Amino acid sequence: MKILAIETSCDDTGVAILQTSANPPAGGEFLVLANIVSSQIEVHRKYGGVYPFAAKREHQKNLPIAYKKALKEAKISEKEIDLIAVTIGPGLEPCLWVGVTFSQELAKKLDVPVVPANHIEGHILVNYLTNSKIDLPALALIVSGGHTQIILMKKIGDYKILGETRDDAAGECFDKAARILGLSYPGGPEIAKLAEKSEPGRIDLPRPMINTKDYDFSFSGLKTAILYHHQKQDKAIQKDKKYISQMCADIQQAIIDVLIKKTLKAAKDYKAKTIILGGGVSANHELKTQLVIKAHQDLPGIKIIFPQIDHSTDNGLMTAVTAFFHQKETCDLQDLKADANLRIGN
Ligand code: KG4
Ligand code: ZN
Repeated sequence: MKILAIETSCDDTGVAILQTSANPPAGGEFLVLANIVSSQIEVHRKYGGVYPFAAKREHQKNLPIAYKKALKEAKISEKEIDLIAVTIGPGLEPCLWVGVTFSQELAKKLDVPVVPANHIEGHILVNYLTNSKIDLPALALIVSGGHTQIILMKKIGDYKILGETRDDAAGECFDKAARILGLSYPGGPEIAKLAEKSEPGRIDLPRPMINTKDYDFSFSGLKTAILYHHQKQDKAIQKDKKYISQMCADIQQAIIDVLIKKTLKAAKDYKAKTIILGGGVSANHELKTQLVIKAHQDLPGIKIIFPQIDHSTDNGLMTAVTAFFHQKETCDLQDLKADANLRIGN
């Protein structure tokens, strides 16, 4: 089966074509025929974050182009598409609708079924591209620009949200902190790069909610602490490369400390066999390295799985894999709708 997948939930226009076996997989049964991601970073950089209506306009412009590129890369004609997968949420409503409308029209033209996909589930299930078997129950930490959630996955399709952020997402915290420091959008990769030049531990930043008994997060207090610390410095220091890289190291460490502590607590409490990382922030090298080391110490035997870097941030393949597992859950075209607040579980 050839799945064409469309992902437009935020600021990446993703179109992928995935060839799959008819039955749920062993890893080798997925063959990536095309994975086109058209990034809008340059457009949003001047706003310091994603500007939804500019994002919608860019998706409208880029999606037909990305679709043609994907067919070319896959060396197939559109008549060979068996199923269309589309992200319907969560995400930015105007952006999601671009993908939904495109999928509706294409499905009508090609007379193929459409499977609606949940973006957060996509960040989890994309890990099946590189792992044929994942021992369950698994504990997923999904960290992106819009979400920070700890999710218990008992089996594919059966999820429970154990905790989530009460305000800003972890990626949003990276992005806002970068803006305070005068760095460009997206902030995560910028902060990660500069953090390599310093050791964390010199600037005292809070770790909000790190010791609470629940699995929730809060990052807005950390952002405020970063802002105050920055405002207290004189102008020359604010621009000083050493100060900026020291801040980056300590900001990154503060976020990592909270993410790891809560994830390991949940993994222990729910006797998870695997920890799965996903979402843009899971591209962070320090987060992955420190999680592996701490998990090894605290929960020996637990497996840690994370996506390859280009599967961490948004892409169409995550949508394709999700639709593969839910291939029977097709949707009537007139019922296909974007849902900005779609939840993966309770
Ligand atoms: O999953 P994603 O591509 O889009 C959303 O669904 O939000 O995640 C984007 C987020 C941005 O906030 C970006 O700063 C962050 O992921 N990010 C990183 C890194 N690469 C991307 N954060 C920390 N370290 C990175 N290396
Ligand atoms: Zn995402």
